[in-house]
Amino acid sequence: MEQYVIKGGNSLTGEVEIGGAKNAALAIIAAAIMTDETVVIDNLPDVRDVNVMIGAMEDIGVHIERPDPHTVKINATTIGRLSVDYEYIKKIRASYYLLGALLGKYKKAEVALPGGCDIGSRPIDLHVKGFKSMGADVDLSYGLISVNAKRLIGNHIYMDKVSVGATINIMMAATLAEGKTTIENAAKEPHVVDVANFLNSMGANIRGAGTDVIRIHGVNKLHGTEYSVIPDQIEAGTFMFAAAITGGDVLVKNVIPKHLEATSSKLIDAGCQIVEYDDAVRVIGRGKLVNTQVTTLPYPGFPTDMQPQMTVVLGVAEGVSTVNESIFENRFKYVDELARMGANIQVEGNIAIIRGVEGYEGARVSAPDLRAGAALVIAGLAAKGVTIIDDIHYIQRGYERFEEKLRGIGAVIEKTDSEQQIDRFIERVS
Ligand code: EPZ
Repeated sequence: MEQYVIKGGNSLTGEVEIGGAKNAALAIIAAAIMTDETVVIDNLPDVRDVNVMIGAMEDIGVHIERPDPHTVKINATTIGRLSVDYEYIKKIRASYYLLGALLGKYKKAEVALPGGCDIGSRPIDLHVKGFKSMGADVDLSYGLISVNAKRLIGNHIYMDKVSVGATINIMMAATLAEGKTTIENAAKEPHVVDVANFLNSMGANIRGAGTDVIRIHGVNKLHGTEYSVIPDQIEAGTFMFAAAITGGDVLVKNVIPKHLEATSSKLIDAGCQIVEYDDAVRVIGRGKLVNTQVTTLPYPGFPTDMQPQMTVVLGVAEGVSTVNESIFENRFKYVDELARMGANIQVEGNIAIIRGVEGYEGARVSAPDLRAGAALVIAGLAAKGVTIIDDIHYIQRGYERFEEKLRGIGAVIEKTDSEQQIDRFIERVS
């Protein structure tokens, strides 16, 4: 198993380039099978989750070429099966986007039921509600979700909860349904908008993405397209928090500043200076961080995927802060690992009460999930001494060349895969 090893204490300075949005890419790749023509998608992040999704699609017969790590050429005419193996959904929940895409195009699909995961039970009742509203029969048995419909008819669907995945899955199926579908209380995340724009570039008729009412007029078929995925706001925010906690000065390039408004606003509250450009954001840490209060909310609120990173920064801010995780029921597991680095955080239900400490101390910790793993890296960058992070496969799910990009702005970090390599790093930096 590989580890990250970090010698903390450097202020991060310089420029970092952000890649394509993982959570947009996963849905867009799946949606590409909704046409029999060729689709080219670029600005893909070369991360584990994207590679697993591509594997799941090749497994059912989709022809995929990869001219370079950030580009795929997809042609779905060779699909031979409409059933996605459990091995893929076990690795990434987002394989369930193939349900919406296959149901829309073939009126039939089968995907293994996604289990819970590191941050909560993650039910799919809203996806099922949407498919049933359009006339699909949905059977949940033997750990499988099987959907099929003689005809898919547009309908008015109210989402009991704001759900990114359910909004996207229903939007995909509705694209090729008969008549009009309205999704009320829809998710407004930038990646929902990106999927809608992608489908419209294939000839879909989707209006209102990015608002809480999305209107889809079903069309008979979709055509090929070439499309570029939006920048990853979560990767961008992760680097912004790294700059803040190390008192650095980093220009985060190839971003859409509007997508980062909630993060920028909270970093300003915590004492940082933020300068926005057309496609970049500069974060200047002023050495002293101050407490603030955060509640995670659906976009445009503060993103739950930035909650661990924010908590780590507040853990060394002056005063008492609170972070309220309103989206997932179990997203503070990493706090126990952070306590081993000296943090003083009490978790009461879905609220973390954070008493700022002088600084973190390096320790050996384990990444419990993707974003918490990235947050522990941020803690290591600011910690005194050396931090070793195990289970970094979680982090590699969503961050491309993470250690390289951090080194590019002055971090002392290496990826190792043996105790000997760890010892050599420690000797070298001591
Ligand atoms: C997406 O997950 C992201 N994953 C998550 O990012 C992100 O944290 C989440 O949206 C919220 O922004 C991908 O896009 C691949 P939801 P998703 O449906 O779609 C409840 C990362 O770090 N819910 O918006 O699964 C659910 O339990 C990952 O990249 C239902 O109750 O999230 C949660 O409480 C982690 N029934 C809330 O809604 C349903 O049918 C929001 O979940 C669906 C969801």
